[in-house]
Amino acid sequence: MSDLEPSPERMRELLRLATNRIVGHIDSLPGQPAQAAEGGAAFARSLREPLPEKGETYEALLDFLFEKVIPRSFNTAGPGYMAYIPGGGLFDSAVADLIATATNRYTGVFLAAPGLAQLEANVVRWFCDIVGYPEGAQGFLTTGGSLANLTAIVTARCERLPTDFLKGVIYTSDQAHHSVRRASRIAGFPPESVRVIPSDPSYRIETGRLREEIGRDRDRGLLPFLVVANGGTTNSGAVDDLAAIADLARAEGLWLHVDAAYGGFFLLTESGRSVLSGIERADSVTLDPHKGLFLPYGTGSLLVRDGGALKRTHAVQADYMPKLQEDADLVDFCEISPELSRDFRGLRVWLPVKMHGIAAFRSALDEKLALARHAASVLRTFEGVEILAPPQLSIVAFRLVRAGLGPEELDRLNERLLEGVNARKRVFLTGTKLHGRFAIRICVLSFRTHQDRLDEGLEAIRDVASTLP
Ligand SMILES: Cc1ncc(COP(=O)(O)O)c(C=O)c1O
Repeated sequence: MSDLEPSPERMRELLRLATNRIVGHIDSLPGQPAQAAEGGAAFARSLREPLPEKGETYEALLDFLFEKVIPRSFNTAGPGYMAYIPGGGLFDSAVADLIATATNRYTGVFLAAPGLAQLEANVVRWFCDIVGYPEGAQGFLTTGGSLANLTAIVTARCERLPTDFLKGVIYTSDQAHHSVRRASRIAGFPPESVRVIPSDPSYRIETGRLREEIGRDRDRGLLPFLVVANGGTTNSGAVDDLAAIADLARAEGLWLHVDAAYGGFFLLTESGRSVLSGIERADSVTLDPHKGLFLPYGTGSLLVRDGGALKRTHAVQADYMPKLQEDADLVDFCEISPELSRDFRGLRVWLPVKMHGIAAFRSALDEKLALARHAASVLRTFEGVEILAPPQLSIVAFRLVRAGLGPEELDRLNERLLEGVNARKRVFLTGTKLHGRFAIRICVLSFRTHQDRLDEGLEAIRDVASTLP
């Protein structure tokens, strides 16, 4: 038997040794630095290597990974990670991935693994239920929000524009995730085809301006066809007025896509449902389980209200393909999405949801909302701290202000505050610009972040701020 086909004993040994490493790593997460990626370029260069002709011992490779490489990073799985949009990484999903990749079933075609394809279809249906979509909605799991937004734009283009589509215009706000502009470009639209509408003081799209721009474009002979609204912005968690935009989109005959990659799973909570109300009227929605369901990176989703649109956009025949399903209640994912071969992503969602029930996720999300509100109320008590974006979901953005400092000096001051807080390595935060002002964000989304760590971070902010001139 070749080394590529290990014996049952060897397989157990491989798993046992990896398990020891993984469990030790996860168990020590709270004590690990919140980030340790300094000197990354030199470190990365030191790792360059030629294609190895011969193998090395597995144990040495595990040592290399767990002792040398994995620690030199942002600790995205740790409780102190409140930067960007935290990605979680439920352990049960890792086990599901092991099962999925070890059994290596193919779920792109229903016929090849009907039961497993149905489990993934169940996951998609659960997501449609969370959004409030009717029967007839359809969707699929992507690698993330960027690919979901891209597929939404291509689907909207195919559904609403002629094949010669360059008169089409896309509308979004100045707070939209940059993947929307990138996706528009990949979908064939030059930057001039994307109207970036200003947001109001709460960072929500100005619906009146949106209406005016659509009218102006029609007068110019252009073809407005798509609005991409925010269901929780990356900058501040702002949620556009989805009901008003749905009214406008319907009146104007535009496709409405809601990018709820970050915010969408807060629909599981009562307050999230009220903030995101109107999302169920969108033509398509991006939800990222690798954000709001705490799953590992590489798990996104796109849901489309009229599932037929996905098939019309993607289905292409080929002689070597097996017979695909004609029953409306069975799905061949390869017919409704851009990918053919891919991993079995469904299991990494299905297993934890089945093991814990959705109630466990709901209460974890409620905790994150409460923690963000707590952070805002504590920050308000700090001298000189201005809240730039109170939490609409689980992000709060703030800055330090000092009398007599101009805009650029204030930005520098806050960059120093951010550096000082991150240098303590108990929390890792990132900044952004909100209407031109540098802001520090706290994004509470990791299932491992609880009040103790958040309070440590808040204390670090107070402390570092007091040392700045
Ligand atoms: C609102 C929003 N949309 C889209 C994306 C892109 O998602 P992904 O990184 O999964 O491609 C993000 C990522 O943070 C996001 O916050």
